[in-house]
Amino acid sequence: MHDVAVHRGKRLIWSNATFDVPVGSFTAVIGPNGSGKSTLVNLLLGGIKPSTGSIDVLGAPTRTGNPEIGLVPQNHSLAHAGSILCRDLVALGLAGTRWGVGLHGRDLAATVDEALAAVDAQSFGHLRFGEVSGGQQQRISIAQALITKPRMLLLDEPLSGLDLAGQVDIVELVHHINHERGVTVLFVTHDLNPLLAHIDSLIYLIDGTPEFGMVDDVVDSGLLTRLYGTPVQVTRSADGCVFTRTE
Ligand SMILES: Nc1ncnc2c1ncn2[C@@H]1O[C@H](COP(=O)(O)OP(=O)(O)OP(=O)(O)O)[C@@H](O)[C@H]1O
Ligand SMILES: [Mg+2]
Repeated sequence: MHDVAVHRGKRLIWSNATFDVPVGSFTAVIGPNGSGKSTLVNLLLGGIKPSTGSIDVLGAPTRTGNPEIGLVPQNHSLAHAGSILCRDLVALGLAGTRWGVGLHGRDLAATVDEALAAVDAQSFGHLRFGEVSGGQQQRISIAQALITKPRMLLLDEPLSGLDLAGQVDIVELVHHINHERGVTVLFVTHDLNPLLAHIDSLIYLIDGTPEFGMVDDVVDSGLLTRLYGTPVQVTRSADGCVFTRTE
């Protein structure tokens, strides 16, 4: 991003964004409710345009329908799809991309199977979306995002509504996708703890500007307290584990 500002309607959401996210990194995106995290995701997808400045994603200006970017949207925007089979939802990830053109029958089924396997969801692909657990739904949503074999994955609060074990499962899955496939990951979250072992960097929305920094610099009591407007303590244990807690 170079000197990017974004408005929704007449309202300035944030401005002065200038940073580079390294290809292949696993970056958390944090900031209070309404600070503009989903807006940032939307900008990268080309769904909204910046008011000033320029954005390059994977070496090219943003554009809509880019199959090189996979999205796992906030709040299960698939929630109305309860009666649809999980594997049909995964196939919908091909809609509107050249990947889907001419793919039918056995070829389509094989492509969907591959995406289901990538998130270890083969055993429930045949069930209706409304019948599977929240964690399984999130896997299906990730499979849908992966079906075009993107080089970048954007996840907007994929941990919301999951219990601790479910959160760890999703984070480890995303870590695997990042590590094994070299997919660049931007992961919007309100809870940093499940991510701290895997992320290398963060984008943090503070005082109306998104900033980029490495974990050791950003995961700091003073900075997180200022960011969230409530006391946050960062603790580093003797064995190198880092965690945050609110007082
Ligand atoms: N389509 C829209 N039109 C006008 N304002 C909008 C629109 N979408 C979002 N906003 C406003 O932009 C601001 C940033 O919203 P955004 O959804 O990006 O925040 P967020 O950081 O993702 O919040 P949350 O943590 O609650 O998901 C909010 O004040 C919101 O009301
Ligand atoms: Mg949001």
